[in-house]
Amino acid sequence: KASTARVVIDLDVPGPAISRHLYGHFAEHLGRCIYGGFYVGEDSELPNEGGIRLDVVEALRALAIPNLRWPGGCFADEYHWQDGIGPKADRPSMVNTHWGNVEENNHFGTHEFLALCELLGAEPYVNGNVGSGTVREMSEWVEYLTRDGDSPMVRLRKANGRDEPWRVPFWGIGNEAWGCGGNQRAEAYADLARQYATFLKDHGDNKLYKIAAGAGDDDLRWTEALLKAVSCLGCGREPKNIFQAISFHYYTVAGTWEHKGSATDFGLDDYYRTIAKAQDIERVIRAHSSLMDAYDPERKIGLVLDEWGTWWDVEPGTNPGFLYQQNAMRDALVASVHFDVFHRHAERLVMANIAQTVNVLQAMLLTDADSGALVRTPTYHVFEMNKGHHDAVSVPVHVIERPEAYAVDDHAMELVSASASVKDGRGLVSLSNLDPEAGLEVILDLRGVEVQGVVGRLLTASSPQAHNTPASLGAVAPVELPVNPASRGTLAVTLPPHSFATVTLTL
Ligand code: AHR
Repeated sequence: KASTARVVIDLDVPGPAISRHLYGHFAEHLGRCIYGGFYVGEDSELPNEGGIRLDVVEALRALAIPNLRWPGGCFADEYHWQDGIGPKADRPSMVNTHWGNVEENNHFGTHEFLALCELLGAEPYVNGNVGSGTVREMSEWVEYLTRDGDSPMVRLRKANGRDEPWRVPFWGIGNEAWGCGGNQRAEAYADLARQYATFLKDHGDNKLYKIAAGAGDDDLRWTEALLKAVSCLGCGREPKNIFQAISFHYYTVAGTWEHKGSATDFGLDDYYRTIAKAQDIERVIRAHSSLMDAYDPERKIGLVLDEWGTWWDVEPGTNPGFLYQQNAMRDALVASVHFDVFHRHAERLVMANIAQTVNVLQAMLLTDADSGALVRTPTYHVFEMNKGHHDAVSVPVHVIERPEAYAVDDHAMELVSASASVKDGRGLVSLSNLDPEAGLEVILDLRGVEVQGVVGRLLTASSPQAHNTPASLGAVAPVELPVNPASRGTLAVTLPPHSFATVTLTL
């Protein structure tokens, strides 16, 4: 039996701007994300430009990817950028100790990454190496990438075939410094971040937005140590040119780290626990934000969630170090729930990066290792359907009538999730019916602006376990959603169980 919900949206009450960078991505040298995903090499039979797979680029361009974080992750803290420049035959190889202990030949390096960003139309977010690198190494990488004119690193870049500097707006100072990035203590890392940041220079008009490696989940002690290092509350001397943002990571792990569960073979209990865990991101963002408000009431320091997404057991028969997992309708709903939360907290949350774009964790795209077939995942479709929120202004959404929340452990899991924004005479409403068993009749009560036209789109499937494969590319794909006028100023939509929908409004 269908439940009902009434959703009031104040289209004329502007909230915080939703940075397009909340729809950012992450690509690590991990499993088949770079090699076999983005990069197939120039000799591949698959259409490519400089080794970069063109159908992957085309699929991702449709998402208007705003930024791409690279080269890790944990890999970032063992990556030495000078090994990845110059003629490929001369590049030394290394062992990727974090991910499968495989040999990394460094054929995809700085130039290839920047070429990929250019093809995608995405802004680069480079994550430097603090754990096993040096201040000099990181500072020279910035010089190599962004300096114009003449200097040792500029001459090296030109010798490698690139005259013009690139624009690199985002820079990460290490990754998970409390763990794979060096097992550091919060205060020790905070001091290192200040030191590294000092030598990451703005060359010419390239202004770096420097991001300190932040907490795992709700480790507020870590965040507070970084805030103390940068905010100068009571420090007496304003620190100059330090970092502009603090990151944190939050993964939707519904089971334990040892037994995370299958991406496609799960029961209702697992489903509920997963959605509840995804919704809990709001508590974690609130906790970080309110701590940041205490140190930085003017909200000058950004909060960056530069790794998020579902993390399941790897697909049977695949390398456990490659983190290759399928992606089902349930994952799409995890994504839609996150985006609603991101939109509500866009004042402090300035960037988010899904982990990871191709073939790793909650990917947009899966490439078949044998045939090369390209599969768009259900999560891909949520990113595409929500594209209209990029750089839009969020507006308040009040779910004033909704089905009763479902109790999962000590958490009340809401069965409806929604958010909305306006931009350039258009409104975009995102709606999720998280009930895996019952449909939902939604009345959209749109206030403040007259609506001239509507277009509805729906993403659902036969079950929360449904997913796309090379043999069934469109098992989960968006279709048209009928939107009917109800009483004056309201619209009615019917959402099937476990579904995501968008309603675009012409205002
Ligand atoms: O995304 C996979 C890994 O998860 C990243 O390398 C690391 O930062 C995190 O622990």
